[in-house]
Amino acid sequence: MEGPWPRAMAAWWWWMSLLLLGIAGCGGVLQVHGQVDNLGFISLDCGLPENAAGYVDSTTKLRFTSDAGFINAGTNHNMSSEYITPLMGKSWHNVRSFGGGAGARSCYTLGPLVAGLKHLVRAKFMYGNYDGLNKAPVFDLHVGVNYWTTVNISNANTPEIYEIIAVVPGDSAEVCLVNTGSGTPFISALDLRPLENGLYPMSNSTQGLVLLTRSNFGPTDGVILRYPDDPHDRFWIPQSKPTEWSEISTAKRVHNMEGSSFDVPSAVMQTAVTPINSSSPIQFTWDAEPSANVPDPGYICILHFSELQPLPVNALRQFYVTLNGQLWLGKGLTPQYLYTNAVFNGIPSHGSHQYNVSLNATTNSTVPPILNAIEIFSVLPTTGITTATQDVSAMAAIRGMYKVKKNWMGDPCMPKNFAWKGLGCSYTVSSPPIVTGLNLSSSGLSGNLSSSFAGLKGLQYLDLSRNNLTGSIPDTLSQLSSLTLIDLTDNQLNGSIPPGLVKRTQDGSLTLRYGNNPNLCSSGNYCRPLEKQKNSTDTRSPSVIIMDSPLSQTDIYYGIPMVAVLVILVLSVVILCIKMRRQGRTSNNIKRQNEASITRSHSQNNKGHISLRFDNRRFTYSELVAITNGFQQVIGRGGFGKVYQGLMEDGTQVAVKLRSESSDQGEQEFLAEAQTLAKIHHKNLVSLIGYCKDREYMALVYEYMAQGALDEHLNGKDNNQSILTWRQRLRIALESAQGLEYLHKGCNPPLIHRDVKTSNILLNANLEAKIADFGLLKAFNSNSDTHVSSARVVGTLGYLDPEYQATFQLTNKSDVFSFGVVLLEIITGQRHILKDPEPTSIVQWVRQRLACGSIEGVVDTRMHGDHNVNSVWKIADTALKCTAHNPMQRPTMTDVVAVLQDCLEIEVAHNDVNAGIYLAGSGGDMNGYGRYDIDTSSGVS
Ligand SMILES: *[C@@H]1O[C@H](CO)[C@@H](O)[C@H](O)[C@H]1NC(C)=O
Ligand SMILES: *[C@@H]1O[C@H](CO)[C@@H](O)[C@H](O)[C@H]1NC(C)=O
Ligand SMILES: *[C@@H]1O[C@H](CO)[C@@H](O)[C@H](O)[C@H]1NC(C)=O
Ligand SMILES: *[C@@H]1O[C@H](CO)[C@@H](O)[C@H](O)[C@H]1NC(C)=O
Ligand SMILES: *[C@@H]1O[C@H](CO)[C@@H](O)[C@H](O)[C@H]1NC(C)=O
Repeated sequence: MEGPWPRAMAAWWWWMSLLLLGIAGCGGVLQVHGQVDNLGFISLDCGLPENAAGYVDSTTKLRFTSDAGFINAGTNHNMSSEYITPLMGKSWHNVRSFGGGAGARSCYTLGPLVAGLKHLVRAKFMYGNYDGLNKAPVFDLHVGVNYWTTVNISNANTPEIYEIIAVVPGDSAEVCLVNTGSGTPFISALDLRPLENGLYPMSNSTQGLVLLTRSNFGPTDGVILRYPDDPHDRFWIPQSKPTEWSEISTAKRVHNMEGSSFDVPSAVMQTAVTPINSSSPIQFTWDAEPSANVPDPGYICILHFSELQPLPVNALRQFYVTLNGQLWLGKGLTPQYLYTNAVFNGIPSHGSHQYNVSLNATTNSTVPPILNAIEIFSVLPTTGITTATQDVSAMAAIRGMYKVKKNWMGDPCMPKNFAWKGLGCSYTVSSPPIVTGLNLSSSGLSGNLSSSFAGLKGLQYLDLSRNNLTGSIPDTLSQLSSLTLIDLTDNQLNGSIPPGLVKRTQDGSLTLRYGNNPNLCSSGNYCRPLEKQKNSTDTRSPSVIIMDSPLSQTDIYYGIPMVAVLVILVLSVVILCIKMRRQGRTSNNIKRQNEASITRSHSQNNKGHISLRFDNRRFTYSELVAITNGFQQVIGRGGFGKVYQGLMEDGTQVAVKLRSESSDQGEQEFLAEAQTLAKIHHKNLVSLIGYCKDREYMALVYEYMAQGALDEHLNGKDNNQSILTWRQRLRIALESAQGLEYLHKGCNPPLIHRDVKTSNILLNANLEAKIADFGLLKAFNSNSDTHVSSARVVGTLGYLDPEYQATFQLTNKSDVFSFGVVLLEIITGQRHILKDPEPTSIVQWVRQRLACGSIEGVVDTRMHGDHNVNSVWKIADTALKCTAHNPMQRPTMTDVVAVLQDCLEIEVAHNDVNAGIYLAGSGGDMNGYGRYDIDTSSGVS
């Protein structure tokens, strides 16, 4: 036979098909509901306006939808009317075309799909002079990062259809049109059909099949068979050659073998051709189609056979299959009656300009060969490396969230010359490309700062400056270990810089720019800085520094609802501490990484005046499971549930309080507690590291206090417990006093702890003291000096301010009273209520003893006299002032801090000078230290 007909005849057949398909598409109009239909099919009418209704193809009953939801580029055009024929399918009427010049890549993202599944992708083109230029373009098609084919539009009214079968590695298939400088790419329609992975075994993850021809031999009606005859919606093009072939057909169903690799529809197999001249072979040829990209394409030819005639017993249909003269099977082939057999070359054929398949009868054959259908593919390597999957997902999420236009289509980093604008990629031989830089400066981004940025694990550089980003900064960014620069300047971010990032900036591994975010930190403020005491020797800066903010102080502090009653339930810290201490003994040597640094303030003046505040991390339940190793180690139990020991990713130990179902703490209160604690940060307040609100799970994550509560150290039953030295006690007293002072003076409105006691002072591994249990924390307005009246007195007997008990008037002096009791416990090592001989308040006990003259009568004997008598006197004096009956006579916490600082200084100087010298103090002078007025003493009855 002459010429390579399958391809040559294709145009004619397509024209026929247009007429036939033309009936299609004129069917009913249907509202678009979904994008992937229930067969997993995607059928896009490219260039159909976004808001246009989808429609159902009347023959296939498949629904076409607009392509607008699958691509972010291109413009819609109508085909020139002169090319529109009445029977032409509607999907051909319009196109989407892609300007952007040579080198531009525009990609459809088809999905969501089942990842790793084989798919058939079909792209259809008919130019129809849509642009009025009368110049048919040539451009490339890519599937994913792999070159697929070159679309060569021969003329305006010839439809071109390209099909590929390939494994789609991810959960979407990217189909890209690439402008190669020979005209503007356009597309008319795009189909995607899933295939079971067992079909077309020669297509795998590294090899795709590009369709050349799929022919159905023998039908006389000229109808293209597709869905629903073919459940996979392949197009089976009718072929016949009346001069050479005669048609055979059957009405009987032709079956596929079990596990057939091709699943050819019965309707296709029910027709076949056989040579008119029974001694002639059946022959067909195709021309190789080399291109610049694929100079020597390899071809796979699949022949589908089935016997359609019940042959007499003495008859035999047997033939050889040869390709370019080479025998395919070593023997003759006899098709089975009404069963489909396929013959194909497993190894693609290369190296010829033309390929010639011949089916000729064996000598024993009594009837001529038969052929029902063929498929010819060229194989396509799909070995193009794609960007690391997690980066692809993260970039897709970022693109989706911010609706980034740019050229953000297809694979982010691959091929190299199509990498997304603003992206820096790292290309190594051994691993897939990863995103290392992301510049979205001045890109019109709005909304929150997506946590998807943290999905780019290799990110080194992130520039989000000059956008309109709002919300807070996610702490997850700090987990990007390679990240060295984040630029957030000129946005509308608020909240605080999360602790993780602060830590990174402090250890110098990260530069963070965040100037000109007017709301950053101002909205979440609760506490303001303490005025730095000029004569203070404590060089540690107060824990929170708010730099000059564009908002006035008034705006910042008075904008917060006054006397916001922060009724939050008591944390079961007492129990927690007991357990923690036991744990602590074995874990004292674990370096506390979050301490100090987590509460230390940090500020940076960069253009705008910036204040920095730590916010809390939000944990997912699964993170907590990981942190607590499946909630293994219970270290405490309380009304809200159990407290578990945990270890964070960075090695920081934490205490995780998980709210139990039976908890009497409501969800709102739980969250309110988290929010309140989130705003209070001081190195001497036990800090909340984060919280969890994940479905029904709620938890608070605290810093781990390895040495438990102060009361246990002072009067613990455990005799192995080392006794705190006077110097250690002074430091603990000072640190707790500073924590309280912060609540009273550093916060607006001021906060009253209401439950100051030695069991609520926790010690970390370095014996640094922090106030815990903010469950009874109350806010009051000190400016108008009104007192908070509470309906009932709360607190702990023995620490309770008698004035508060009597009048229900709560002031911060109530905390001062309680702290006085704490100081007395620290000096004496006695409990706040002495049991022997009968219950006596420690205040009364100390007053009585001191009235008799000797400080040694009250000092904890377990210190073996290793204390400076002066400072003990000074502290005792302060303690008694604190416990004065009249609140007005009590010092403020600021005064107390000053005294404690002085004493500690004396102690430190003393020990340094007299290192190792034991001073048996007794008596001691009382110069300058006020006398306590026994008349004002009061105890709790
Ligand atoms: C895909 O098939 C080709 C040809 O049979 C083979 O060389 C290649 O190794 C296969 N790839 C995979 C991943 O199996
Ligand atoms: C079979 O076909 C080949 C090539 O097409 C031809 O050379 C050969 O003679 C044929 N054999 C028979 C038995 O017809
Ligand atoms: C043809 O038939 C003869 C006799 O049955 C047998 O010996 C021979 O092998 C057959 N030839 C082929 C090619 O099958
Ligand atoms: C930022 O967003 C706000 C609120 O939507 C809007 O008023 C403002 O114009 C935006 N600014 C820029 C530069 O886009
Ligand atoms: C610290 O300064 C304040 C006033 O600035 C002063 O009243 C107080 O006596 C000073 N304290 C010490 C220990 O110098």
